[in-house]
Amino acid sequence: MRSLLFVPADNERKLAKAESCGADALVFDLEDSVLPERKPAARRMLAEYLSSYRGSSQVWIRINDLTSGELLKDLAAAVPMGPLGIMQPKIRGPEDLEIVSHYLDMAEVQAGREAGSMGMLAVCTETPSAVLRMGELIGHRLPRLKGMLWGGEDLSSAIGAGDPRAPDGSWRPVYEYARTQCLLACHALEVEALDTVYVDFRDPDGCRRNSEAARYDGFTGKVAIHPDQVAVINAAFTPSDDEIAQARRVIAAFASGAGAVSLDGKMLDIPHLKGARRLLASVGA
Ligand code: COA
Ligand code: MG
Repeated sequence: MRSLLFVPADNERKLAKAESCGADALVFDLEDSVLPERKPAARRMLAEYLSSYRGSSQVWIRINDLTSGELLKDLAAAVPMGPLGIMQPKIRGPEDLEIVSHYLDMAEVQAGREAGSMGMLAVCTETPSAVLRMGELIGHRLPRLKGMLWGGEDLSSAIGAGDPRAPDGSWRPVYEYARTQCLLACHALEVEALDTVYVDFRDPDGCRRNSEAARYDGFTGKVAIHPDQVAVINAAFTPSDDEIAQARRVIAAFASGAGAVSLDGKMLDIPHLKGARRLLASVGA
């Protein structure tokens, strides 16, 4: 998954546009882009829209959090719509994922789907507790979990802080920490590591730089809030021809069977070989 486009589920025009945007995944939102009084309408509109969905993007639905009073209604409505899975926001720790997974078992059976068949994506940095307890996720069996993403805006609101970004656009230390925790936890759990939104959706160059930096740091994809960001993110998370050629050269350099070799005057050892293989695997080569 390179790009995941958020689509507010109560907006007819955005729903209509969603499947033509080229995103690897669409995340139809029932949570914070929908006002409380619009939640029932959003569920109805999404059900109607998905009943005739023919797009090729994966379909995910972001539900409301466990404390919202909306979650059970969301699950009861969302599961019969047949998404690949749900995105759970504002988790506080692993038990939140386990609770929702149990609810999903029930909703799946009720909808005539196999229990355990749906996936989950988690937003893992929106509460202070989740950030402090990130490592606990690793000790849990979370078979539904396919990926996690991080976000700074809700965390900043939760701790009464200001803009999570410094004036130069970089993340302030708390958010840099949360981002790093999320990244490492995703790789420890072997799930997709998804970078947060680039909010300035009229700035494609900034989005490109931000996406390239995320991939360089080890993220495997990124969420988008506007159709214009999708192609930019897809390109940033697709290895270039030069990178593919270089990965092939690295692999060829190990043909002798040695564990440490030289290429272009530099030492390469097993981590470089693994990196090259991983890059080629990511493009199906
Ligand atoms: N998904 C699908 N279509 C979208 C879209 C989205 N996220 N954002 C915009 N569009 C559509 C618009 O409807 C418009 O198409 P139309 O002319 O056929 O109606 C077109 O793309 C251009 O949109 P534009 O006018 O540039 O933007 P906007 O002012 O309508 O919307 C936002 C700007 C930020 C409000 C909008 O992009 C949005 O709602 N993003 C998602 C927000 C969200 O889900 N947040 C929660 C996760 S952080
Ligand atoms: Mg949010």
